[in-house]
Amino acid sequence: MKRPKFKPEAYIGGKALKPETLMMNYGYNPQWSEGAIKPPIFQTSTFVFKNAEDGEDFFKMAHGEKMSGPIRSPGLIYSRLNNPNLEIFEDRMTLWDEAEACAVFESGMAAITTVFFGFLNPGDVVLHSEPLYGGTDHLLNKVLAGYNIRSVGFRAGSSLHDIENIIRKENISENIKMIFIETPANPTNELVDMKACAEIARRFSTPEKKVSFCVDNTFLGPLWQHPLKHGADLVLYSATKYIGGHSDLVAGAVLGPGELIGRLKSLRMCFGNMASPLTCWLMTRSIETLKLRMTCQMKNARYVANFLRKHPKVKKVYYLGHIAPTDRQYNIYKDQCLSSGAMISFDIKGGKKEAFTFLNSLKLINLAVSLGGTESLVQHPGAMTHSGIAPQDRLRMGISDSMIRISVGLENPDDLILDIKQALDKVK
Ligand SMILES: Cc1ncc(COP(=O)(O)O)c(C=O)c1O
Repeated sequence: MKRPKFKPEAYIGGKALKPETLMMNYGYNPQWSEGAIKPPIFQTSTFVFKNAEDGEDFFKMAHGEKMSGPIRSPGLIYSRLNNPNLEIFEDRMTLWDEAEACAVFESGMAAITTVFFGFLNPGDVVLHSEPLYGGTDHLLNKVLAGYNIRSVGFRAGSSLHDIENIIRKENISENIKMIFIETPANPTNELVDMKACAEIARRFSTPEKKVSFCVDNTFLGPLWQHPLKHGADLVLYSATKYIGGHSDLVAGAVLGPGELIGRLKSLRMCFGNMASPLTCWLMTRSIETLKLRMTCQMKNARYVANFLRKHPKVKKVYYLGHIAPTDRQYNIYKDQCLSSGAMISFDIKGGKKEAFTFLNSLKLINLAVSLGGTESLVQHPGAMTHSGIAPQDRLRMGISDSMIRISVGLENPDDLILDIKQALDKVK
């Protein structure tokens, strides 16, 4: 894919500056706002046109019409279509994934839903990894089924050969329109081989029907994994998580080639599911510290995972940093992940009763769904985020009643371990 057209301030002496450097100023000129070093919140629904000709031109540009006169930059019209806070944040987001364009939504689910409605039609099949976040699973298997869009799952960790066998067995080769994956999988941390998925997408595309390959990169991105470099067409985020990073907002994002993102922005204009100026302003502030936060969380998670691995009341730890070189997933990990991230799941010895005793005994770590915030969060996927999936399907996907998921935050890791230890001591 083409590299984005970075703005001149992204370079010094022809050398590209790093994303973490550009998070502080890229795409915003203080002179636009009385010298304010940070962009103000443009808390406005509409924008005043200089004259009627401008208004007419801006609408033409918004509808994708070619301009007959000199090319001008698209002007601000109305905050459902465009707003400075939305545009500054979208521009900055493109830097991490080196994407051409970005579209921001009011939630991760709004981003995912818009991608499905933008690229699928009745009769199409979505081939997807399992497990997926419970909300995405529900959307695919319950809601889209009502629109005659079928979904067929394959277990995260499947080889190219395994996926081909499923396509053959389900007789879907003619109808595959999208491959949608989450890697690492939520909550099992199993990795999906992106190169294998890109190969399937390529093989089953025809001149009339392009198979889109979409990756939900919420767990590791945008710092530790860049799916567009591994053949994905679109990369998606629940920006509620690491990008927002403070558990005080809900948002989503999709990145990829300008043409595909343009299609999603047209739909967003109809659905009205763009992020608000305040949400974008909060996220623009948050991504200044994204690298700092994600790096600290990654380091903290390593301490916590190593402690859990040695604890006699823990049966199994699911953590990317523990994948052994002899494991089939190791090469995938080395190829596509830049770090082990900060998400850990583990099976406690016993079952739901023991898991609940542990959860109810924690004093510091919060019992709440979501992830990627500054504070550590813990939850029981079987009873919470993935409770909408039938119990037998959950088990098939590797989500047992003894599984607990932890999102590791910025606390001192010794304090986290102290809390986990005392809670495990309460489990009989
Ligand atoms: C991996 C993943 N994708 C998507 C979503 C949905 O995002 P949101 O809650 O921002 O709508 C979540 C939410 O937990 C998630 O964990």
